[in-house]
Amino acid sequence: MSEKFIFGSDFHGNLNSVDAFLREAEERQATHVIFGGDIAPKNMAVKFRDGSAIKIDGERPISVRDSEDLEKEGYMLFSFEDEKEDELALLRITQKFSGYFDNSYFEGSRDPILTLEEIVILEKYKQFFMDFLENTEEGQKIFEFFTRDLPSSLEKFVDMVYQFLKFDYYLKKGDRENLRTIRENGFYSYLSWQRVAALIKLAFSPLRKWEAIERDLSSHSLPKQREFLQKFLERIDEFRGRVSAKVSIILGNDDMKELGEDLDRAQANGLIVNATNRVVQIGDNVQMLGYSFVPPLPYSFDVWYKNEGEISKDLEVLAGEIDPEKILIANIHCPPVDTRVSRTFSGYEIGSNAVRQFVSDVEPQIVLTGHSHDHWKREDGGVFDRVGVTRVYSPGASEKRGRFIVCNIDEDDHFLVER
Ligand SMILES: [Fe+2]
Repeated sequence: MSEKFIFGSDFHGNLNSVDAFLREAEERQATHVIFGGDIAPKNMAVKFRDGSAIKIDGERPISVRDSEDLEKEGYMLFSFEDEKEDELALLRITQKFSGYFDNSYFEGSRDPILTLEEIVILEKYKQFFMDFLENTEEGQKIFEFFTRDLPSSLEKFVDMVYQFLKFDYYLKKGDRENLRTIRENGFYSYLSWQRVAALIKLAFSPLRKWEAIERDLSSHSLPKQREFLQKFLERIDEFRGRVSAKVSIILGNDDMKELGEDLDRAQANGLIVNATNRVVQIGDNVQMLGYSFVPPLPYSFDVWYKNEGEISKDLEVLAGEIDPEKILIANIHCPPVDTRVSRTFSGYEIGSNAVRQFVSDVEPQIVLTGHSHDHWKREDGGVFDRVGVTRVYSPGASEKRGRFIVCNIDEDDHFLVER
């Protein structure tokens, strides 16, 4: 009987990609559905009561989005207790202003649009604003610049900024009554949107606050990753109701180790095969060797780091469990070094010597690998390579959209599917 596998990796919590993958597996009547590591979400977003959310992408938040959409795309959503809502709303406002400068938020629109509620929140943080103007070198310069022709107290100046924001709001609403009131109170004409935006962005300095929030969130990742895994396993359950394929999976360096317990439970229920760091049978004549550890990298869970010597030893132990009579699929998160699939688009070699040595020595029929997300974008990259006689596949990450390899186990023709 011919065996057909479909392989995807680095889904990073993207349920849309998981759905596309399972649809593809069903349509193509795959006998083996194989997930590489990094299944669970690592990206984070803060959810607001109105259903919107902001991504936190390591460096800085990017944009305000619908929280349900973000969750499907693989974001862990965190909401805060009520007393932090204002603080978060403040961050969201400053986010609008940072978007104003790099054009990522308000495409095609000139000014950030603040609601009246948002202006009120900014006003609540008036003291914060004044502290910036009074106590930072940058703030003092700005204050002097704006007030050189017009003697003004800090408080009066800050009030004028708020008046400006309200004036603009009423202008856009066409609210003449309120516009007149503001004019009568004295409207400061030196301000412009660009200046106000720059000022607020600086004064509320969102970066430092986001860093603190991000640290706070990271410590709560496990329940979120588990929540995702539950949804993932429900989908596998539905899939297995329709299709009689074997589903196997390994964890990757961005999955928390504790998820292994959840996978073992799912395995006990006959749902999947957990091949994380073990050799398992996935068919009458097919075995899988799974391995998740990677050489150290900046920015991921260091519980998954091992040096080349340790990786080499681990793989040697696992090799001892292989049945030489059966087909061997190696599902190894880290690619063999110096292949078309081991260098990221930005040129970073993330492959392992120990993995390469293991592949040359043991010669599995197929090596399925991930870890690198975008090697296929390189001129010297691709989704396929060989190490000696062994075929090595790495479709790239499915974290943004599905990328899968489909292949008959005993034949060379394979293809990449994107959805
Ligand atoms: Fe990944």
